[in-house]
Amino acid sequence: MNSLSIEQLGLTYRNGVQALSGIDLKISNGMFGLLGPNGAGKSSLMKCIVGLLQPSQGSISFNGSPIKQDPDAIRKYLGYLPQDFSVYPRVTAYQLLNHIACLKGLSDARARSQQIDLLLHKVNLFEARNKEVLTFSGGMRQRFGVAQALLGSPKIMIVDEPTAGLDPSERSRFNFLLNEISKDVIVLLSTHLVEDVRNLCPAMAILASGRIVKQGRPADLIRQLDGKLWSARIPLSDLQRYEDQFQLVSKDLREGELQVTVYAESPVAGFTAQKPTLDHVYFKALDQETKR
Ligand SMILES: Nc1ncnc2c1ncn2[C@@H]1O[C@H](COP(=O)(O)OP(=O)(O)O)[C@@H](O)[C@H]1O
Ligand SMILES: [Mg+2]
Repeated sequence: MNSLSIEQLGLTYRNGVQALSGIDLKISNGMFGLLGPNGAGKSSLMKCIVGLLQPSQGSISFNGSPIKQDPDAIRKYLGYLPQDFSVYPRVTAYQLLNHIACLKGLSDARARSQQIDLLLHKVNLFEARNKEVLTFSGGMRQRFGVAQALLGSPKIMIVDEPTAGLDPSERSRFNFLLNEISKDVIVLLSTHLVEDVRNLCPAMAILASGRIVKQGRPADLIRQLDGKLWSARIPLSDLQRYEDQFQLVSKDLREGELQVTVYAESPVAGFTAQKPTLDHVYFKALDQETKR
């Protein structure tokens, strides 16, 4: 079992932006979802873990070794798919994987080509192995990104917003791939899509304005809202009144009418009980953060 442990991590950029503060996380094998809106600090946190940024405070350990003292403690075991992965030179998928494998120190030519073939099959790009990566679709590029991250058999995979920009069928195929990988390794997935976390992650944290505002198992977080959500269709003109009076956890248009869900310990007159979902957990956590 692998373990990633983050304690009291903080990061302030040179221009004074405090991107992360007081981050505490413990992550073991399987998929962990880091959910948060744009600007929450997801990419910053991932760059600290992979060693591209030096945190200003706190520590990160992988399998018991602090990575500040010993960067190799994680580097050797790491696969990383950055948010802005965009190496699309005029070389074939096979050639590029071969090049990256050499950089990662896979020096035995036979073992290297075996591993590359295996990975090309795994990410379903074997047929396209002799095509230039430049010509790949969005989904193919992301699957190629996973293949390069998997070179060298990592124990921890960091994937930063991998499904942004994929169409629904590409996204589904990509998610099946991540799910398959996560059996024996840590896969840390960042996303702004509640649905990706719901579909894939037995453990999660919500990041907002550089802080962890909620963490746990999705099912447990949802259960905490049982019996405390109430919905009704209301006229648009009443919205402000309900926003002042209650904690709003969702507002949607239904057939052109406004449907709101509020959080309250006891029933609200005119409202009916609402079954909680992970969306409610997310929006309640974000709402609390903005009102902090
Ligand atoms: N290189 C940088 N220099 C200064 N501020 C940055 C830099 N990169 C990101 N930020 C800021 O840090 C915050 C978190 O950004 P980021 O980690 O990219 O969030 P996310 O990945 O969740 O969208 C934002 O306010 C962003 O503007
Ligand atoms: Mg990002």
